[in-house]
Amino acid sequence: MNTKRILTTAIAATTCMMTMNAQPKLSPTNIDEVLKAMTLEEKAQLLVGGGNDAFTGSGAMLGHQEKLVAGAAGTTVGIPRLGIPETCVADGPAGVHIDRQRKNDDRDYAATGFPVGTCLASTWNTELVRQVGEAIGNETLEYGVDVILGPGMNLHRSPLCGRNFEYYSEDPFITGAIGAAMVQGIQSQGVGVSAKHFAVNSQESDRTRVDERVSQRALRELYLRGFEIAVRESQPWTIMSSYNLINGQYSMGNRDLLTSILRDDWGFQGIVMTDWIGKRDPLPTEREVTAGNDLMMPGYPAQVEDIVKSVKAGTLDIRDVDRNVRRMLEYIVKTPRFKGYKYTSKPDMKAHALITRQSSAEGMVLLKNNGVLPIHDLKTVALFGVNSYDFLAGGLGSGAVNMPYVVDMVTGLKNAGVATTHTLTDIYQNYIPYARAKLKADKNPMMWFLDQGQPKLDEIDITQRCVLHEVKEADAAIVTIGRQAGEGMDRQVEGEFNLTEQERNMIFRISDTFRAQGKPVIVIINSGSVMETASWRDRADAILVAWQPGQEGGNSIADVLTGKVNPSGKLTMTWPLAATDHPSTADFPQGYDAYTFNEMLGWNAPIKGRDYTNHDEDIYVGYRYFDTFNKEVAFPFGYGLSYTTFAYSKPAVKVSGGSATVTVTVKNTGTVAGKEVAQVYVTAPKGSIEKPAYELKAFAKTRELQPGEQQTLTMQIPVRMLASFDEVGSQWLTEAGQYTFRIGASSRDIRCTATAKVGRYTEKTTNALAPKAKLNLLKQ
Ligand code: BGC
Repeated sequence: MNTKRILTTAIAATTCMMTMNAQPKLSPTNIDEVLKAMTLEEKAQLLVGGGNDAFTGSGAMLGHQEKLVAGAAGTTVGIPRLGIPETCVADGPAGVHIDRQRKNDDRDYAATGFPVGTCLASTWNTELVRQVGEAIGNETLEYGVDVILGPGMNLHRSPLCGRNFEYYSEDPFITGAIGAAMVQGIQSQGVGVSAKHFAVNSQESDRTRVDERVSQRALRELYLRGFEIAVRESQPWTIMSSYNLINGQYSMGNRDLLTSILRDDWGFQGIVMTDWIGKRDPLPTEREVTAGNDLMMPGYPAQVEDIVKSVKAGTLDIRDVDRNVRRMLEYIVKTPRFKGYKYTSKPDMKAHALITRQSSAEGMVLLKNNGVLPIHDLKTVALFGVNSYDFLAGGLGSGAVNMPYVVDMVTGLKNAGVATTHTLTDIYQNYIPYARAKLKADKNPMMWFLDQGQPKLDEIDITQRCVLHEVKEADAAIVTIGRQAGEGMDRQVEGEFNLTEQERNMIFRISDTFRAQGKPVIVIINSGSVMETASWRDRADAILVAWQPGQEGGNSIADVLTGKVNPSGKLTMTWPLAATDHPSTADFPQGYDAYTFNEMLGWNAPIKGRDYTNHDEDIYVGYRYFDTFNKEVAFPFGYGLSYTTFAYSKPAVKVSGGSATVTVTVKNTGTVAGKEVAQVYVTAPKGSIEKPAYELKAFAKTRELQPGEQQTLTMQIPVRMLASFDEVGSQWLTEAGQYTFRIGASSRDIRCTATAKVGRYTEKTTNALAPKAKLNLLKQ
């Protein structure tokens, strides 16, 4: 008999015995009673998901046939005799990741493709992000899903991490603010989120084995801070523990992380589920239970057996099991499936398309403009670059969305009344199907993530003859440079962070020829993440970072290019001159697969960057490094141009009642309407703990201001948010003294400052997650 059968029989037998007694049916008010009525096997089963096949997994296991949602990532297991339904979880975060097609069903179950995390964060508009969250939450609900697996809240420690597109920023404060807004929006619809990947999932290479070795201070101030803000401000229903280890312990078996910090320090009330993996040898399953990891996903029968055996053997305390089961029941009673919600599978796709168009246009960042934008009197453009035509709406892997359509650049421009040259458009449009077929044929079967989302196609060689032909036909050139990345793989410096030789030739040829004839060259960056720009930015008259902006991408880009939308996006990560400028690049996996190489040679020594990563840069991640150590960058954190200009008034800062209140008036001094993001960077006084030059502590975005119009922005900074983490005292410590509040349009464009005295503040924490290895921490 296989394991599934044994369990099914065991549960069925228990069910028979139980029918003799009255059986409670789960309700929000009888959780204790239901818990008491559960057998050990049922309890164990509730802590382990229904398997990889969401369609039949848990149904088959418990012998009932309820169908959940095709293409969803997983289920929790139901116990019908106690009125406990299965619940369904599906991937996000850029929309609901389910299958478009279902067996024996003609309907299209496409979900809206919303902008990726970097694009949403670059709006710096929490209200807008909340609206996007509401739309995603509504689709989650209407497609019969209970929890969406997002938002992604890891930090951009390195520009090379393959999943940066799903995450928000190199800065924990904006990560937390945007994450909390997203969670509030989604959960307002009566469904849950899973904020992920908790924590320090900063690289994709060897993500299931790498030990992230990091100081307690960097953990608290950077890698955990965004999650902390989201937990305190939005109480996510669930949090997903990451695959990696932190300071020698797997996240999913880490009591310090999942209980001492998450619940005791922050007051988290929901459930923790693992990322999608089975048993973690050498981590015993019981350790996951005791650590406070309530649900093991996707779930394997062996894990159920482990729990049962450990309780019987006395190595797992039934009280720990009961605690997790109670939390699972508390989660289940909140779900639409428990409440019997009759979902329609027909969300309002038109309304959501409008939201994605508006939010992606607001997240786009204008890096450069020689005055050629917004475009006026442009009738015809020569549109270069394969991603102009095969536009990348989102990233690869679980974060991809099966969306109904993608508006490419030709269509977006056409909708805005701008034509593209015939010959070039024909060449590319004929080439795309061939390139797709080639990619499919050449695909390495190990690269499963290429099946989820839209991989990047090879570029076409743009010859000088082609450019000479096009320059005669067009008023301007638009060149799209696309970058794709995703789950399970990190980006390489050569050819991914940097331009390829082919792209460089294309840009240089087009630039030389078009600009010699006074015709502008506009570059669109269609990438979820940062790339090299310093070596070629002189060759463009304008550069717009469009990110991977979701299904309406081409329309949103046209909205910005034509000035229908005045760009107001700002970078949430530094754009360095070179990837190697980031201190983290030194130990980031690159090039050949070191692990395989090592194994081939029979070496067992742990490999840096693969088996472990030392966060020697400590708290100096992103602008905290570049701005403290005065390093030149291509575009600083917080940067982004507008078609208008803004003036900042003299600010006021008042400290009282545990908060600093910053007030500043922003005035539109230009000639077109626009929005501005005022950013507050705080420099702490010298004290017992070394500090970065400054840190982002607040921001606010104006409404759309007409020329001459102004708005007063008021921002609150709790004094506890000014604290540094004091490892010696295991506490947050805001040192007393004069603080400088620097208010500006980027971390390096400070428009006005104010100072205020702040008193000492401390907040005790648990002494959790101390590193075991010695780190050579970077110091000023
Ligand atoms: C990813 C998660 C995802 C899960 C379910 C994992 O491999 O890391 O982000 O939610 O799969 O698809």
